[in-house]
Amino acid sequence: MEIRTPADRAIWAANRARMEAGNEKHTPDRKHHSRHWGMFKFCLVAFRVFLGLTGLYKRGVRNALDLDLKQVELEFDNLPPEFDGYRILQISDPHLDALDDLGPSIANLVKHSRPNLCVLTGDYRYRLHGSFDKVRGAFATVFAAINAPDGILAILGNHDSVQMVPMFEELGAHILANQTISLSRNQSTIHITGVDDAYYYFTDDAASALTRAPEGFRIALVHSPELAHQASRAKIDLYLTGHTHGGQVCLPGGYPIVTHSRTHKRFASGHWTLGEMKGYTSRGAGVSGLPVRFNCRGEVTVFTLRASQPRALSDQMASI
Ligand SMILES: [Fe+2]
Repeated sequence: MEIRTPADRAIWAANRARMEAGNEKHTPDRKHHSRHWGMFKFCLVAFRVFLGLTGLYKRGVRNALDLDLKQVELEFDNLPPEFDGYRILQISDPHLDALDDLGPSIANLVKHSRPNLCVLTGDYRYRLHGSFDKVRGAFATVFAAINAPDGILAILGNHDSVQMVPMFEELGAHILANQTISLSRNQSTIHITGVDDAYYYFTDDAASALTRAPEGFRIALVHSPELAHQASRAKIDLYLTGHTHGGQVCLPGGYPIVTHSRTHKRFASGHWTLGEMKGYTSRGAGVSGLPVRFNCRGEVTVFTLRASQPRALSDQMASI
């Protein structure tokens, strides 16, 4: 693992705690925005009343608990052959205290997923502040169902607090706070960089974590798509993210209305590319705002990494 001293970690934690207390958005554009939720909260209340009056609320909750175990295969020219077939389970945005049945639903879904590694890409709590006791209990259920030999790595999202770090360590997950962990098989290594949330809590340390990653095959875990361009310039090979919930409540056909993202809608869900970098935005396992989904199924994702096969000499000659 990249050498980050206890002092580095303490500085990061103190800085994160100060930003959480300040109730501001610290964004990559370097502006400090106040959080204005008045109109959005009004819309949520109005939508909740509408769902109640039309009888759609219960259907929305049922939809939210109907998760998809999505299988995604991604091929890379520079993946070491020793990692061909490597499986990464991604759980993003579970907001585990939103619905009591969500933890058991996720556990049931992942128990046969056979990952080598599990990554959690943020947003574990429903609200932006307050208790996370229910999150702890639900994660204990989920983690008991995950059998990942290379462990569980996690980053914090904008709904999370630095105060959750001891909880994750006690449960057996490792929080990556702007640092890189390297995984080896035989003589080959891949590097996984976990970046702190850039939607509310951006710092220069988060951006430089991407450039500090060692040479080789690099994966970045970032809560939101906000840092995709910086990651592409830093020659990250795979960017795993969430935050958008895919819209959560979408128009028929899955077109998102609100993604809470400052990036282009093409990053709202699923697989995308930016330059040489491949990216994937999870629709998330959970819900925020209201505990409902429409036209946007929640997901837990299993990635299978594939190393491109060398082209046969005859193919290479034909393309000259
Ligand atoms: Fe979220």
